Amino acid sequence: MPVSIETIVSLCKRRGFVFPGSEIYGGLANSWDYGPLGVELKNNIKQMWWQRFVHRRDDMVGIDAALIMNTKVWEASGHLSNFNDSLVECEKCHNRFRYEELEIPNPKSQIPNKFQILNSKQGSECPNCGGALTSPKQFNLMLKTHLGPLEDSASVVYFRPETAQSMFIDFKNVISTTRKTLPFGIAQIGKAFRNEITPGNFIFRTREFEQMEIEYFIREEDWQKYFEHWRKEMMGWMEDIGIDLKHIHELEVPSEARAHYSKRTIDFEYDFPFGRKELYGLAYRTDFDLKNHEKASGENLKYKDQESGAEFWPHVIEPTWGVDRSVLAVLCSAYSEDGERKILKLKPYLAPFKTAVFPLVANKPDIVAKAREIYKLLTANYSLLPIAWDERGNVGKRYYSQDEIGTPFCITIDYQTLEDKTVTVRDRDTAKQDRIKIDNLADYLILRLK
Ligand code: GAP
Repeated sequence: MPVSIETIVSLCKRRGFVFPGSEIYGGLANSWDYGPLGVELKNNIKQMWWQRFVHRRDDMVGIDAALIMNTKVWEASGHLSNFNDSLVECEKCHNRFRYEELEIPNPKSQIPNKFQILNSKQGSECPNCGGALTSPKQFNLMLKTHLGPLEDSASVVYFRPETAQSMFIDFKNVISTTRKTLPFGIAQIGKAFRNEITPGNFIFRTREFEQMEIEYFIREEDWQKYFEHWRKEMMGWMEDIGIDLKHIHELEVPSEARAHYSKRTIDFEYDFPFGRKELYGLAYRTDFDLKNHEKASGENLKYKDQESGAEFWPHVIEPTWGVDRSVLAVLCSAYSEDGERKILKLKPYLAPFKTAVFPLVANKPDIVAKAREIYKLLTANYSLLPIAWDERGNVGKRYYSQDEIGTPFCITIDYQTLEDKTVTVRDRDTAKQDRIKIDNLADYLILRLK
């Protein structure tokens, strides 16, 4: 049975994955804080992404740019004039909605996609009270602030709504420092901000979130080939983080719904507990960004071909991943129940704790000392970190507790350990136990955590 969002939110709060933001002051507009386990899971996702798409490829480099950029960036990119959502308001209860998200059943399809919904909204009613809705108004999503002590119009700046633009702004510096030749990509992981009309569905839609993005620079004639390359790479990534591809749906975005810069876009939608929604995107941005930034800045942002000497703006394929939506999809995909036992079947490399060490009983100094010794021995090994320590309650409860947070292996030190230098290693998914020699323990775990 699919997991409910209430179950995921409750698990996240109870076990320290995700807490409501500013909770002791009553929260703040669907903001969320990652707790001790959530930060481990999120960091593991980001680290895996960086290794896979930056470290393992010789055609990729990374950057980490400022969150607030010169306002001229957003004028040239078109975000100040075009980065809008349509807002409708109920004339009776005054609730506001994103026009695109109104759930109005479409008789032609059992599971309407968001564009079919978009086409079937004539005469729609407020989903809250049934009142009449105003006609849609454009609302800019850029989040404003002021730089410096004066809050006048000259000091207005914007938090970036996507990490992407800095890859274009730094394009010249990256080329001159790395001497990369086409095709090559610039990758970045970082925060983005959008003044969303209706944040909601837990960490799915927030005003502050994280993205992992690549701008992949190519020759125009190769765009279809690299679009297909990145489509497959994104599929491979989803499988590797444990998402069952039968819950992924590719949606070809029609031209009227595409972002202003895109000539082709695919949304990868996932069956979240609250419905089929966008997880990631893949867009062909043409040479829109480099061309416009050259025009606006007066800097030459063309690429010079080494052999022919020809100069041109490279075209761009942009695969983009939301970090928070990745965390949510991974949690929903990994959650399972076996009677009373709740298990997060996370891929071992994503688990917040790689393993847990328990002394069988807490009141036998010899056993506790041996367990501490083994804990210390294992922590010397970077690929086994972090390791949980638990000596509370009985072993059965400790196993259940680790299952619920996805720890792949639990190691118990017992009376037999003191006699024959072996421990039990229990597997999260099968609950099977193996007796392993302490001398072989680190190798045994490393092999299974891959
Ligand atoms: N540079 C292209 C770009 O930003 P996007 O489809 O607007 O494209 C990319 O955003 C990804 O960022 C989305 O697929 C989603 O995973 C994530 N994302 C977008 N808005 C979000 C929000 N308000 N809250 C959480 N994640 C969001």
